[in-house]
Amino acid sequence: MKRLMVVYGTRPEAIKMAPVIEALDRSAMFRPTVTVTAQHRGLLDQVHALFGIRADHDLDILAPGQSLADITRRVLDGLGPLLREERPDAVLVQGDTTTAFAGALAAFYHRVPVAHLEAGLRTDDRYAPFPEEINRRITTQLASLHLAPTPHARSNLLREGVAPSSVVVTGNTVIDALRGAVGRGTPFGDPALADLEDTARRVLLVTAHRRESWGRGMEAIGGALADLARSEPDLLIVLPLHPNPVVRAAITPHVEHLENVRLTQPLGYGVFARLMDRAHLILTDSGGIQEEAPGLGKPVLVMRDTTERPEALRAGTSRLVGTDRERVVKEVRRLLHDRAAYGAMATAVNPFGDGRAADRTVRALGHWLGLCERPAEFGGDGSVPEPADPSGDGSMPEPHGVRRR
Ligand code: UD1
Ligand code: UDP
Repeated sequence: MKRLMVVYGTRPEAIKMAPVIEALDRSAMFRPTVTVTAQHRGLLDQVHALFGIRADHDLDILAPGQSLADITRRVLDGLGPLLREERPDAVLVQGDTTTAFAGALAAFYHRVPVAHLEAGLRTDDRYAPFPEEINRRITTQLASLHLAPTPHARSNLLREGVAPSSVVVTGNTVIDALRGAVGRGTPFGDPALADLEDTARRVLLVTAHRRESWGRGMEAIGGALADLARSEPDLLIVLPLHPNPVVRAAITPHVEHLENVRLTQPLGYGVFARLMDRAHLILTDSGGIQEEAPGLGKPVLVMRDTTERPEALRAGTSRLVGTDRERVVKEVRRLLHDRAAYGAMATAVNPFGDGRAADRTVRALGHWLGLCERPAEFGGDGSVPEPADPSGDGSMPEPHGVRRR
């Protein structure tokens, strides 16, 4: 059995790691330990409560107003002693947060090989998203197994010279998590959402948090929501607020007094998944929601200038609208009033996963560590591509620094 340390710290990482932790616990190949940095606290604990995860180690680093340097330093300081003590065979990190990059760096400093889940997403713009584009590029340099969610992500990695044999296309584990969450039919619970159970009013679900939009962008988003609330009185705008005070201060004053805007605290994933399913339309700058909504057949307007998730753009189910106030209003109103435009986007597609990504991930990790066969890969369109290994024998390189027993 190999000892795998799973490291994460924020809500989206927890959601995407949860199915993997479950699959690792089921597998006879691994003895996993869960280490959370708690870069997020309340948001992380909500996900743990839903999936019944208890961390083995909790660095508890969140401090209000934490800077990027604060997070990086605390993750490195916290993980060092743990890695020395546990000496895991490998570390698994997810995505592009500062926890993911600093977790991978800490593992590298201790010569522990790193596997990167959701590898290969790129915008090719170092400041958008900020700081995630650089976080994920650094993580690619530190990792020796790259678990790409889609064939497109794999091609990004190959373009950068990553060895094909070290990339496995798994599908995104968020789809595994989403299927479990939507199926629960969780009641909306929050009093601000009580009338959603029995009203026919159309729901516009909104989330926003990206650092590159702090300031002018967030103000414009707040203004656009106020304009929409006034011009579309039958529409219910539901906005679960990110806990970041910077985001709240920019958006809340624009909308808090409006009858058809429902501001809520961050919602548990079960409730949020049901809300996505209930929504007519989603307006967001979130990464994960861009992956989830297409599977539910919900059009997504993305309040960003660029995206690392072009699969949904190509499928026609999402559209980049930026953060200009008039543009956001115009794009939402178009989908509210133009049936053909709405219908063209409201198609259920699953370019990001098929619900079996966690099992592929565990088998890819097992193969990397010499424990099992390489898994068949996710094709993005339901097909299974040829193995990426050009040697043709399915072999993969030794993970750097693995201690064989
Ligand atoms: C972080 C990630 C971002 C990811 C996002 C998901 C980095 C640099 N950013 O951004 O990639 O898309 O999470 O949501 O890694 N806060 C709380 N309680 C919580 C969580 C946050 O109070 O449970 C508040 C704190 O005041 C904190 C602030 O939110 O200082 C920002 O949190 P932080 O993790 O620094 O950045 P996010 O914007 O959440
Ligand atoms: N989410 C949630 N409750 C909320 C808002 C979002 O559970 O109130 C989920 C959402 O379904 C997705 C994830 O959180 O799976 C996305 O998190 P976020 O937008 O914070 O991060 P990103 O994906 O942009 O990194």
